Amino acid sequence: MCGIVGYTGVQGAAPILLEGLRKLEYRGYDSAGIAVMYDCRILVSKVTGRIVNLCEKTQNGAAVPGTTGIGHTRWATHGAPTEKNAHPHLSNDGRFAVVHNGIIENYRALREELIGKGYVFESETDTEVIVHLMEMYYHGDVKEALIRTSDRLHGSYALGVICSEEPGKIYAVREASPLILGVGIQGNYFASDVTALVSHTRNVIYLDDGEFAELSENSVTVYDCLGKPLSKKIARINWDVQAAEKGGYEHFMLKEIMEQPGAVKATITPRIRDGRVHFEELQISDEELRQIRRIVITACGSAYYAGCSGKYVLEKLVRIPVDVELASELRYKDPLIDEHTLLIVISQSGETADTIAALKECQQRGAKALAIVNVVGSTIAQLADYTVYTWAGPEIAVATTKGFTTQLSVLYLLAVLFADRLGTCEESIPELVSALQKLPMYIQQAIDMNHRIPQLAEKYHGSRSLFFIGRNTDYAIALEGALKMKEISYLHAEAYAAGELKHGTIALIEDHQPVIALCCNPSVMEKTINNIIEVKARGAEVLALTFRNNQKIISAADDFLFIPNANPVFAAVIEIIPLQLLAYYTAKENKCDIDKPRNLAKSVTVE
Ligand code: G6P
Repeated sequence: MCGIVGYTGVQGAAPILLEGLRKLEYRGYDSAGIAVMYDCRILVSKVTGRIVNLCEKTQNGAAVPGTTGIGHTRWATHGAPTEKNAHPHLSNDGRFAVVHNGIIENYRALREELIGKGYVFESETDTEVIVHLMEMYYHGDVKEALIRTSDRLHGSYALGVICSEEPGKIYAVREASPLILGVGIQGNYFASDVTALVSHTRNVIYLDDGEFAELSENSVTVYDCLGKPLSKKIARINWDVQAAEKGGYEHFMLKEIMEQPGAVKATITPRIRDGRVHFEELQISDEELRQIRRIVITACGSAYYAGCSGKYVLEKLVRIPVDVELASELRYKDPLIDEHTLLIVISQSGETADTIAALKECQQRGAKALAIVNVVGSTIAQLADYTVYTWAGPEIAVATTKGFTTQLSVLYLLAVLFADRLGTCEESIPELVSALQKLPMYIQQAIDMNHRIPQLAEKYHGSRSLFFIGRNTDYAIALEGALKMKEISYLHAEAYAAGELKHGTIALIEDHQPVIALCCNPSVMEKTINNIIEVKARGAEVLALTFRNNQKIISAADDFLFIPNANPVFAAVIEIIPLQLLAYYTAKENKCDIDKPRNLAKSVTVE
């Protein structure tokens, strides 16, 4: 849940570290710090709050000389977001500084042991044990100290380490937390995410779990956990620098909403050939497909809601039962999973701790795991039996938008592929494929046709709470719409299956209560209209979301959001667009920090 960055080279390190931390701020933003080596000493600057405070404190890095350093932006887990708990942490002898992303599960026992040996702790963090272990195991060889320290740690960690005895060197260690090396000219880097590297270099090395790296101005050496040098492939990043910048938009979220036609197109188009769906990366035989008795989808947050939405389409077209489980629940429920289960794991970051744990749990029980992931080379992408990438590009805003719609697009592609291969659906495959190809166009239209959303946001932004109702695919999108609203605008928002209202929740409907009614699924449209009439009879103000020109809804509701008249099987991915925009403009009215909502982080690498 934190971001780490490191640089060693010929330029001033502090400005580079600060720039990298700004790019990683989405991962955590309650405190930050850098440590830079200067004249064989380690200079540390830390602040509470955002990176901007660290920039101020260090005069944008100018006040911190030195060309080798490490940095950290934090989302507090162990200990409050104070300056003391902010990273980097220093060893008692001042020789080592450490930044850490992840959780050290056995830190209590280690802390007691180290205190017993006379080490003094300055913070409440789990991380601090690492730096004292480094001091304890250092006898003139940093690599050896790193190996011995890593050996003692249980949990997940990406570490950046500097040692005053080795000026010009930075070390990076990876175990179950993301870490990427950047290979530059006259300088090398590490970071939690490529977004912090692309402005310096496109040449990267993905570290695997258990590996560590030694970086100097002109060399990058990767070792296995025993210290044996490894030969690693240098990969080329094809994201451009602008992809990780705001590009003139006020917020990353708005930019990412607007990027959805392109992102969905990039995800769908390469998988379509001669009117059919093909996934080069999914080498699954017809025989294996026929063995699948059940599909289990697991994920967290919006990725889970993408699963809830995709379930309807998979079941409709493939006729295999689909269960969608929250990863945080699945991992602890002794799940009924066997070799006839296909597990679909969905994760934008590929690093969500609960999702990783659920994946491992199900694989152990014999299931094959198919991962839908955005971040190339991430942990989930590496663990899964099959990985299908969403080509959304970097997503920076904490609230996902293009991550969600590209995940749903992949689920649609899989549904059509499986249906085609198993011969399970009544609909014509070429027609379904043609409908998939039109989705980017319809998403663009959904963006264009809802120019009244800022006015609607002005009307609804002061509401005490909002209800989102819908049935079937509309219900799944209501769940995601409500999540978007609460996470960025801080309004209480609750999604209900429309048919369930009368079993309790309708008691909350009183005069002027806003109800957002999703009506984009023709098979349940009449039923939802009845629910609109019921809540209106109790005083609700209804904002309906439906197809353009749907007169029945237009005469039943008070305000409208529209989507174009697309194939209803895949309409859900279009339907979320106006709700993303409504959440965005409502949050703007409420003057919220849209890209970095309070208490949240984009990549949830802790349980
Ligand atoms: C966080 C993000 C959400 C995301 C969820 C799962 O809560 O804010 O946008 O849906 O994590 O993340 P993942 O990377 O696994 O999709």
